[in-house]
Amino acid sequence: MARTLITSAIPYINGIKHLGNLVGSQLPADLYARYCRGRGHEVMFLCATDEHGTPAELAATKAGKPVAEFCAEMHGIQAEIARGFRLSFDHFGRSSSPQNHALTQHFAGRLAEAGMIGEVSEKQVYSITDGRYLPDRYIEGTCPNCGYDSARGDQCENCTKQLDPTDLLNPRSAISGSTDLEVRETKHLYLRQSQMRDRLNGWIDEKSDWPVLTTSIAKKWLNDGDGLQDRGITRDLDWGVPVKNGTQDWPGMEGKVFYVWFDAPIEYIACAGEWAEANGKTDADWQRWWRTDMGAEDVNYVQFMGKDNVPFHTLSFPATIMGANFDGKEPWKLVDYIKSFNYLNYDGGQFSTSKGRGVFMDQALSILPSDYWRWWLLSHVPESSDSEFTWENFQVSVNKDLADVLGNFVSRITKFCRSKFGEEVPAGGSYGEREQKLIADLTTRVRAYEGHMDAIDIGKAARELRAIWVLGNEYLQSAAPWVTFKTDPEAAAASVRLSLNLIRLYAVLSAPFIPDATDSLLAAVQSDDRSWPTDIAEALAALPAGHAFTTPEVLFSKITDEQREDWQQRFSGVRD
Ligand code: MF3
Ligand code: ZN
Repeated sequence: MARTLITSAIPYINGIKHLGNLVGSQLPADLYARYCRGRGHEVMFLCATDEHGTPAELAATKAGKPVAEFCAEMHGIQAEIARGFRLSFDHFGRSSSPQNHALTQHFAGRLAEAGMIGEVSEKQVYSITDGRYLPDRYIEGTCPNCGYDSARGDQCENCTKQLDPTDLLNPRSAISGSTDLEVRETKHLYLRQSQMRDRLNGWIDEKSDWPVLTTSIAKKWLNDGDGLQDRGITRDLDWGVPVKNGTQDWPGMEGKVFYVWFDAPIEYIACAGEWAEANGKTDADWQRWWRTDMGAEDVNYVQFMGKDNVPFHTLSFPATIMGANFDGKEPWKLVDYIKSFNYLNYDGGQFSTSKGRGVFMDQALSILPSDYWRWWLLSHVPESSDSEFTWENFQVSVNKDLADVLGNFVSRITKFCRSKFGEEVPAGGSYGEREQKLIADLTTRVRAYEGHMDAIDIGKAARELRAIWVLGNEYLQSAAPWVTFKTDPEAAAASVRLSLNLIRLYAVLSAPFIPDATDSLLAAVQSDDRSWPTDIAEALAALPAGHAFTTPEVLFSKITDEQREDWQQRFSGVRD
């Protein structure tokens, strides 16, 4: 059985995520996880909250709560919203877990043994006004690379360049806005990732099947930038994983914690440990996903993330994994495929968490069920370029694709059958040329759909799925059982039988995109047969004559112009 390990970039704990965040990692990861399960893979799908670093501390301060309490609460909220969107994580962990503390300290110890950690006395920005150091997001200023004026101390959001606080031009404190800053010397640990340049280059070169977006960003920072500069992996903060060398204290590092970008990707691994603990499993049970000497050599590991996350996943994290195996004794699993995404914009501008601009996950669910959002987001996923959410476009997609094409097919055929044959699959008649042609067309399209899903080509997969739904409507239109019923009721019965079976087929194929609709459709046709249609003709015979069904309520309601205008208005300003 194929085994697939899937991780989504772990969202920061600092607040509820917007739809741009959702479509950039968690949602496509869920789509792929559901698809792989549908195809019979053994799947481990992991995500967590990213709880350390300055985003967490700043948000807790703003909320007036101790940071640990803030994180625990916010984890619960994010987990609840993830369930609302039907994100089917095998575990939704926390980077602040004891497992991640231990594993992060372990990796640091291994890297030290490998000679990949240096102690550097470095210059840190200290704010006189705030009475503290200002690492990472505690400081903002102008990006020296692209000139963007709200770059943060760790990375420029605009050009993705990784930065150090001292790189920023015109720096200011993110806490107080103060520019009364000075540079002080403090000692920190550095990851000597530049030692890995050749290995990383060679490793990326083998990935000719990766999306260009991923490899181009990786190559850019590997070669023509200073993206592979040795980087500080410790910080002068209270909240985080205390710096230790394995289980030993690290002299000179008392009171310091690891940098959030050092411990966050390690949480991908620690999360499997949390899964094991939560489900009464053993260490061997999770290690068979993560250690190639413990059974993970046949695992296919796929990561999902936004483009700003690519440098960390193609450079620092692989350098950590490779470095920790310097003596061949700890072969942790390296990623096999990195699917990355461009940005989703909102109605003429950017989504922004800090500015509260756009639709946030909780708000989205408060106005419509998750399938509506899942379908729009996944069929407009920003794969080859940035894409844009507009309410007009959302209304059109929902009304056409979900209501007119899929919903209407289901409603027409079930209602017609109920009125003429009763609520069971009719017997009689046989399949002719039209039916054979439909089966052939479906076979071609379903194979194409599988190909796109296997390749994680999401936009193409969505278009193919829609085309598969359209085939049903076209068939019904041309077979016209409401006409033939009068002259040739046997032929009408055969058309209806085939069409009712199509509902089950659609339910199974659509599950990765719109899982709630799948459940409603299977409930309507009273089947729990979710087996993937390898043979279309066979799949269309799953519901035999005499099989009972119920006529479903409206599957998807249309979005009215009034609703659209109301929502557009409500979400035009800044979230309070
Ligand atoms: N929290 C980061 C973000 O939202 C992603 C972290 S991904 C991990 O951009 F690899 F570090 F886990
Ligand atoms: Zn920049």
